[in-house]
Amino acid sequence: MGTTAPAPCRAFVTGHDGAAPMRTQVGIVGAGPAGLMLSHLLHLRGIESVVLEVRSRAAIEATIRAGVLEQGTVDLLTATGVGERLGREGAIHHGIKLRFGGRTRRIDLHALTGGKAITLYAQHEVIKDLVEARLAAGGQIRFDAKDVSVHDLDTDAPSIRFRQNGRAQELRCDVIAGCDGFHGVCRPSVPESVRTEYQRVYPFGWFSILAEAPPASDELIYTCHERGFVLISTRSPTLQRFYFQCDPHDQIANWPDDRIWQEFHARLENQEGWRLIEGPIIHKIIIAMRSFVCEPMRHGRLFLAGDAAHIVPPTGAKGLNLAVADVVVLARALAGFYGSGRTDLLDDYSQTALRRVWKAQHFSWWMTSMLHRSAEASAFDLRRQLAELDYVTSSPAASTALAENYVGLPMEL
Ligand code: FAD
Ligand code: DHB
Repeated sequence: MGTTAPAPCRAFVTGHDGAAPMRTQVGIVGAGPAGLMLSHLLHLRGIESVVLEVRSRAAIEATIRAGVLEQGTVDLLTATGVGERLGREGAIHHGIKLRFGGRTRRIDLHALTGGKAITLYAQHEVIKDLVEARLAAGGQIRFDAKDVSVHDLDTDAPSIRFRQNGRAQELRCDVIAGCDGFHGVCRPSVPESVRTEYQRVYPFGWFSILAEAPPASDELIYTCHERGFVLISTRSPTLQRFYFQCDPHDQIANWPDDRIWQEFHARLENQEGWRLIEGPIIHKIIIAMRSFVCEPMRHGRLFLAGDAAHIVPPTGAKGLNLAVADVVVLARALAGFYGSGRTDLLDDYSQTALRRVWKAQHFSWWMTSMLHRSAEASAFDLRRQLAELDYVTSSPAASTALAENYVGLPMEL
């Protein structure tokens, strides 16, 4: 990026119907974890941003997704003043369990990583905390922004056009952050000739439920069974999150509650006497699984972050955490740009972020292939999988490798 940083300015809101366009320093598309956290980090460094979100505030605060926060994500939310409710309501887990071949073995995350842990705290609660913090600080989040499009990416004055309340509007900025998730508009706005996409689509999905029941376990249980993978997670003392491997093309209508519970019981229960506690199912969804990376994560003045640039299968619980790690790198680069006009950190953004992205890709692929059953798997494959799980849960070296990835590798800077 061969230009000097413009002087700081304050965002101001003016409609575009004959009036001047809005202007800000960083225009952010998408109010997911990446966009909101970026806006928050920039604010703490005195940099203005406007977030444009296609959905309503109520919709983003109600979308049920991730639940596992890495140690670094928790530390960052806490250090930047948005961790108060997380500290009160989040559940710290010092270990996870792997169940296979009729037995259950624990990975002691805390002991194997020098005192780190994961925290169970739902993604939509993180969203609520960030939205509240941004609005309390006078930050601008434009909800219900329709027909968003990004322009002049290879100039020093990119812009974002959108519609709100039926009015066409334009936001001019120095830089655009594309934080609009996998199905957003930013990545497709990068010409195909300058981006490379790496992808692997898995032949299975996750059937996910929320059930009103007491916790089935004090720690997450990742299970490998002949009938397929199961994950036992939790949200609160009265609400549980469970997943089982399914055909990604299956239909929710094929799974009445009784059939779901039968499947969980068949895959989970063993001679150890453990019983799954059932309860009313209040949410069902089928999630497809893919690994995806777009390189580079930048085109001109457009910087992609989070799911807009990469997707991981959920087995490693990395998606939200990777989104946060990306924007830490981007916020630091933008602070250098606005603080002293340096452009080297922005130039390095893609390369720096991708180093961690690819390690998380590897981990997520590895956990997925170790724990799932594919239709083509032979008796040999099952035996080999069981041997791998036996090794990973009994070798200190292998357990440590799993643990340090699961609690989160250090953020790249
Ligand atoms: P998103 O959360 O997708 O946010 C993008 C935002 O942009 C959305 O609000 C969207 O409405 C908005 N948007 C889209 N298009 C436009 C547009 N054209 N204009 C304006 N706005 C737009 N990750 C973990 O780390 N741990 C887990 O335990 C975990 N579990 C998961 C379980 C499930 C069921 C699912 C589905 C995902 C899970 N993930 C997990 C992944 C995690 O939820 C995502 O990686 C994370 O949401 C990515 O954040 P993001 O901000 O990049 O994108
Ligand atoms: C949860 C989701 C995951 O993808 C995972 O690996 C662990 C937990 C959850 O939603 O709680």
